[in-house]
Amino acid sequence: MNYNLNDLQAKAPRSSTWSSLKKLLELISHEKRNLWLALTAILITSGINLCGPLIIGETIDKYIFVAHKNYQGVLVNCGILFCLYLVSFASSYVQTLVMGGVGQRMLFTLRNAIFNKLQILPVGFFNQNKAGDLISRVNNDTDKLNQFFSQQLMQFIGSIATMTGAGIFLLSVNIKLGSATLIPAVLILLFTSITSAWVKTKNAKNLKSVGGMSAEIQESLNNFRVIIAFNRRDYFRKRFDEANRENYKTAIAAGVANNSYVPVYALLSSFAQIIVFAYGIYLFSKGEIGIGLVTVSFVSYANNFYNPLRQLAALWTGFQTAMAGWDRIAHILALNTDLLSLPETAPEDNAPLLEFRNVYFGYTDDKEILHNINFKLEQGKTYALVGPTGGGKTTTASLIARLYDPRKGAVLLNGADIRSFDPVEGTRKIGFILQEPFLFTGTVRENILYGNELYVSHTNEQLEQVIREANLGTLLASFENGLDTKVTSGGDSISLGQKQLVAFMRAVLRKPELLILDEATANIDTITEKLLGDILNKLPETTTRVIIAHRLNTIENADEIFFVNSGEVTRAGSLDDAMRMLLKGKRTS
Ligand SMILES: Nc1ncnc2c1ncn2[C@@H]1O[C@H](COP(=O)(O)OP(=O)(O)OP(=O)(O)O)[C@@H](O)[C@H]1O
Ligand SMILES: [Mg+2]
Repeated sequence: MNYNLNDLQAKAPRSSTWSSLKKLLELISHEKRNLWLALTAILITSGINLCGPLIIGETIDKYIFVAHKNYQGVLVNCGILFCLYLVSFASSYVQTLVMGGVGQRMLFTLRNAIFNKLQILPVGFFNQNKAGDLISRVNNDTDKLNQFFSQQLMQFIGSIATMTGAGIFLLSVNIKLGSATLIPAVLILLFTSITSAWVKTKNAKNLKSVGGMSAEIQESLNNFRVIIAFNRRDYFRKRFDEANRENYKTAIAAGVANNSYVPVYALLSSFAQIIVFAYGIYLFSKGEIGIGLVTVSFVSYANNFYNPLRQLAALWTGFQTAMAGWDRIAHILALNTDLLSLPETAPEDNAPLLEFRNVYFGYTDDKEILHNINFKLEQGKTYALVGPTGGGKTTTASLIARLYDPRKGAVLLNGADIRSFDPVEGTRKIGFILQEPFLFTGTVRENILYGNELYVSHTNEQLEQVIREANLGTLLASFENGLDTKVTSGGDSISLGQKQLVAFMRAVLRKPELLILDEATANIDTITEKLLGDILNKLPETTTRVIIAHRLNTIENADEIFFVNSGEVTRAGSLDDAMRMLLKGKRTS
């Protein structure tokens, strides 16, 4: 299954701006009332602002350029204008308040939606996407949308409303002069519709490179110790430099694309002014229109039409950037998790605890790692998986723990497809100590109780008692401050062996039916290792154990040994058999 977002995005058919916008509006459909309120407010503001020039123009022609000058009429009209402007102030205030909230709530909803999606996506997704790029999508791309919604959308609608109103006034005051004034606008419309897709593509490339740079930073921060130990600072500097340079180039290209509208719009608006001036005076000389209407109303309406249009040029690019960001987010939200849930089936009575039935699996579509695997694990027995590095042991264990699902075939737990179990129940039955244990920042106690509701309300003394009863007491003793030992920055403050001990305690305390240990003792001294062996032996008799180990002495007590190599799992009769298979594998490879 392909989960690579950049790849999926490149292959997806280019969505039109409007279909993107429609999908986005569906996501904030619960904000309908606020959007209508803001829209009404903006229409009132624009409407009032448009009435101004007409009232002034009419006042000049009616009360000033007539034989009997009527200053009282002028004053009355000024009073009307004053009241109208007060209303316009109030409505624009309402609009700002409402839309600021909508933008922030949308940012909140979107970030939540993405984060929740990330929680349910399969492990394969995280293998194929860099964390830095995902963070950039959650932070940067959603913020682009927020900026547009909280700051620009209403300006955008306001500009369109003012423009439309001004257009209607222009045409209704004098259709000839009005239509002439609007000719440059048609050219602007044409130019915009031709260049929009190009601008959106440039912005999408820029956002992608921001994601790439963020991924680069994240990788070098994660691995700074390796970088320093191998003196590879230059290499990472070079790689970062490349990512930064790429970002710089795409940012410039996006900037050029975004700003290309401004001069074109400015030029064409100036043409409109010339048309009003020349053609308006001509019509006045023919007596077809009053001078007040030409010099005040028409000039104002032409401004009211072309100024918002110029603003629209800037807003349009903000809109295109927001839509490019939205596309990147929408790709995450649209992903289907391929960890299917099958209908619940009743477990079979005599079924083995776990069975692999004709299982095929690969991390990516182009490479198969496991080929037609069949084996059974009986309750209460101890199994060992041995085999050369890269042979597929961790992969097999990951399928048992359902970190991934098979491409073909099935993994059965108590005779029922593992996919038919509720994930909570599945994880309760199976405990997995990973080859690379991961601890969260916090204390040893928090890490031991991670995902274990049972002892959350226990005091430290009570929990220590439980730990002692599970024969884990001696392990806890290796931590200076016991349960309160601090674990900082993802477990860096304690040793790898100690991490494995925490992971061991975490898994055992959950009392799983099946416990998988992937190289769980690789970083532990021989005495502690023996201790772990004893603890394993003392687990309830019904617990099935799967031990993956390179050191063969750790699996001496296994009831059955499986040899895993080149994606095949074969039964080895005895430890000696396993040794022979390993040696043979080494010789042939
Ligand atoms: N996350 C992954 N994405 C892609 N391929 C992977 C991934 N993890 C493992 N592989 C590939 O799967 C194969 C089996 O790897 P696996 O980790 O199962 O081996 P292993 O037997 O556990 O090795 P080791 O003894 O080193 O732990 C390897 O060829 C490896 O390249
Ligand atoms: Mg492994």
